[in-house]
Amino acid sequence: MREWSGDTVTGLTSRAADIRDAKRVLEVVQEARPEWIVLAAAYTDVDGCESKPELAFAVNRDGAVNVAAAAKQVGAGLVFLSSDYVFDGTKTTPYEIGDARNPQSVYGRTKAEAELRLLELMPDCCIVRTSWLFGVGGKCFPDTILKLAASRPALDVVEDQRGSPTYAEDLSRAIIQLCRMNATGIVHATNAGDCSWFEFAEEIVSRAGLGTAVRPVSSRQMARPAPRPAYSVLSPGRLRALGIEMPSWRDALRRYMEQRERTS
Ligand SMILES: NC(=O)c1ccc[n+]([C@@H]2O[C@H](COP(=O)([O-])OP(=O)(O)OC[C@H]3O[C@@H](n4cnc5c(N)ncnc54)[C@H](OP(=O)(O)O)[C@@H]3O)[C@@H](O)[C@H]2O)c1
Repeated sequence: MREWSGDTVTGLTSRAADIRDAKRVLEVVQEARPEWIVLAAAYTDVDGCESKPELAFAVNRDGAVNVAAAAKQVGAGLVFLSSDYVFDGTKTTPYEIGDARNPQSVYGRTKAEAELRLLELMPDCCIVRTSWLFGVGGKCFPDTILKLAASRPALDVVEDQRGSPTYAEDLSRAIIQLCRMNATGIVHATNAGDCSWFEFAEEIVSRAGLGTAVRPVSSRQMARPAPRPAYSVLSPGRLRALGIEMPSWRDALRRYMEQRERTS
């Protein structure tokens, strides 16, 4: 909402409209009569989704269907935020938009099923897959690392998962451009370049000028309830073809850290 200028933008919280409530969703959409709806709301606790699959599917898949149905009813376009976790992570080169979905976690399945349902219901919707989001004002990986690094002499960080960190500000700009050009279909939008969580943490600690040691560990050593893809880099081919280039994740991290400093 901060990035979008020149148009009227209505932001809705989960209290204003729980996307599981189809009737309420339709009401708020009919009230606002938007040209575009950006659906970023989701149950995003990837480990929580494993123990609460019903909630996960109700919000991430069925809630998305409710929003798409309302969008269709008022003739609004829809951008749906999806995830690199729809892939299994077995590739070693960037995932293309047409690569087969094969999610390994409940969260990934909710997003993959939502994509399929939305494409059926609203073939001209726009599905934006992104990954490893970070931004000022919310809980995110760089914020966690900075807080931990300030109080610990060493941090263990997973080195066998590779992806592309993405600054929410850069993703927002890409989404706004996609709306303005009436983009449809699947688009991958992440910051350029890739790294492991370990390399990401090293860059964060070094940029902050902290002396904390960052030690590489394997996913097996840091077992979590939900499996994560070992490799989930998303090819920017379609985004580029639409004329949109995303900055590198290192540049994005620099801007995030400056912004974090300014707002702290
Ligand atoms: N974070 C990542 O690395 C990442 C990667 C790939 C894709 N994505 C996708 O990008 C989008 C944004 O992710 P994020 O990490 O910014 O999410 P987030 O910080 O967890 O925010 C999700 C929002 O969804 C709202 N929400 C949850 N359940 C809802 C419901 N039933 N009805 C209405 N709103 C509901 C939450 O509201 P409350 O706080 O009030 O519950 C919260 O404001 C999501 O669709 C996510 O799946 C994220």
